[in-house]
Amino acid sequence: MQDIVISGTGVFTPPHSLSNAELVAGYNAHVDEWNAAHAEEIDSGEMVPKESSSTKFIEKASGIKNRYLMEASGLTEPDRMYPYLSELAEDDPSKTPVQVKMALAAAEKALAEAGLVGSDIDLVIISASVWERFVPSMATELQKILGAKGFAFDMAMGCSSATFGISTAADALSSGMANKALVVTAEYISPLLAYEDRDGHFIFGDAAVAMVLERENECTPKHAFKIKSRKLFTEFSTNIAAGFGSRLMLERERINDPEQRFKQSGRAVFKELLPKVINHINHHMAAEGKTVADFKRMWLHQANINMNMFAARKILGHEPTQDEAPIILDQYANTAGAGCLIAFNNYKHDFKSGDMGMICSFGASYSIGSIIVEKL
Ligand SMILES: CC(C)(COP(=O)(O)OP(=O)(O)OC[C@H]1O[C@@H](n2cnc3c(N)ncnc32)[C@H](O)[C@@H]1OP(=O)(O)O)[C@@H](O)C(=O)NCCC(=O)NCCS
Repeated sequence: MQDIVISGTGVFTPPHSLSNAELVAGYNAHVDEWNAAHAEEIDSGEMVPKESSSTKFIEKASGIKNRYLMEASGLTEPDRMYPYLSELAEDDPSKTPVQVKMALAAAEKALAEAGLVGSDIDLVIISASVWERFVPSMATELQKILGAKGFAFDMAMGCSSATFGISTAADALSSGMANKALVVTAEYISPLLAYEDRDGHFIFGDAAVAMVLERENECTPKHAFKIKSRKLFTEFSTNIAAGFGSRLMLERERINDPEQRFKQSGRAVFKELLPKVINHINHHMAAEGKTVADFKRMWLHQANINMNMFAARKILGHEPTQDEAPIILDQYANTAGAGCLIAFNNYKHDFKSGDMGMICSFGASYSIGSIIVEKL
């Protein structure tokens, strides 16, 4: 059985960038309006005033400085506080979802790097955290647009969507179910956030990342990374949750309840998940007979800079450099499942033949997915 390689990757970066200062200005204007509108209730003690947000807090607590969004204006309008539908969705008689268009843009880049076209692909997976539409599947629509053959399906594993997607595709290639796979993590996640919630209004950005997987003997070595091994882990937790879903079709009065959007207990996630991540990475390296010194780079999940620094410091035994554990969340914010693969895409070009690295996602569900790769 031939080894499986990642022969191409591509990132789609949305057209609108929004800095912390712009985000906070919109939020604080909303707070002022809201507090003025509820002044009587606040004065009588019936309501507590909303507190303002701060760029200083956001950057210190998360490392996020900026995010890219499909549509950035509505979520900073004080009396709206949620995005408009993306301009990519307008004037489109095909009604192709924004998420599929994002996936397509990333896929075209990954295919070009792999030296392939859509009709070479016979497995398409869109693996993501949230869905613009459930049925028909997003992946089958992408398959049709690309002219891909074989079969396609959607899968979801929160922040580990890309690593679990790659692992699933690698299995399909190993078993002979498919010959060339396209895995896309298209995170159109900005509609999910409660922008009127100070604790989390800064967390997410939109982005898509695509990966082409092939058998080693069929690919162009120039760009390819061999998948040496994979390790997946899950353990149920509600500390990161998004309550929306078919249930809200029945509980219609709650459909606009911010509580049904994204919620997390950030501190609990730190405390509970990080030891598991460090343990997982150390065990994966050891199971391959390797130590961290054998790895040129770790492309870690990109939710919070303090989490990444803590994990990388524990694993490396020293303060990580951008070279050892690159950060992209400062510009992209938390892009859920896409983050570690955006880091891989942006920080893989200096790898020489034989250099090894580890991709590792961690987050919601809980889930951890690590992939050891070696440059061909
Ligand atoms: C969300 C997160 C950035 C919050 O950081 P934190 O340091 O845990 O911050 P806390 O929520 O404990 O809040 C600390 C204080 O800042 C305040 N605060 C919260 N949001 C604020 C904001 N936007 N502006 C100013 N102050 C804020 C809080 O009210 C709190 O005040 P208090 O100490 O007086 O109660 C962080 O916990 C995180 O990123 N966690 C993990 C995320 C993760 O991995 N998620 C995976 C999802 S894919």
